[in-house]
Amino acid sequence: MLATDVHCHLLPGLDHGSRNRAESTIMAQALARLGVEDVHVTPHQHRWGIDLSPDEVREHTLTLQAHLDRLRVPLRLHPSAEHYYGEPFLDAVERGTELLSWSAHGDESPAEFVLIELPARDPVIGVEGLAARLAERGLTPVMAHPERVHAVQHDPNRAVRWMEAGWRLQLDLMSLAGTYGRPARRVARWLLAEGHYACAGSDLHRPSQLRDLERAHAQFRALAPLETDA
Ligand SMILES: [Fe+2]
Repeated sequence: MLATDVHCHLLPGLDHGSRNRAESTIMAQALARLGVEDVHVTPHQHRWGIDLSPDEVREHTLTLQAHLDRLRVPLRLHPSAEHYYGEPFLDAVERGTELLSWSAHGDESPAEFVLIELPARDPVIGVEGLAARLAERGLTPVMAHPERVHAVQHDPNRAVRWMEAGWRLQLDLMSLAGTYGRPARRVARWLLAEGHYACAGSDLHRPSQLRDLERAHAQFRALAPLETDA
């Protein structure tokens, strides 16, 4: 799970993540040192007025990949996005707009995954229905950091019910390090122990978070040694 980081704001200058190529380089080098091999670059989409086309994200990904290759930073970048669950995103789904996704081929049938962030504080409706709507397009929704959603902190089984409706869950590694407070840490540890996370990501935005991320990787290795070895 640690070799692939499915949630990372590594592309410079597109959202409030990395501000420039120098910051991206520092973060990429640190990720490689931690043993990460594949990074899904996930600029925010449909939030704060950000509306990047998939082609723009692909182009920025290729540019940064070329830069990292020149520096011999051993990371493979994959264009993706962190879609914000709100009206602009739901409209895009209704219109059939292309959504950046990634494919996974394992024991189960091949699937295409889309990363979606729920508002942390506001109540949300229609979460189950969205999974069914995306399934019509062959897409599986992956919920970014559910442990940071207040509704899940109050009732962790809420996340389990969303899984039953077709969602997958993405662990924010830094939740394990306590970066987002004790409730997020408690729920993250519970969901991890129950084996409910399908994937993990750093949600890394800036170099100043790297110390927390190093602690988070260490905690993950201590809590889930079998998965780390896999
Ligand atoms: Fe994020």
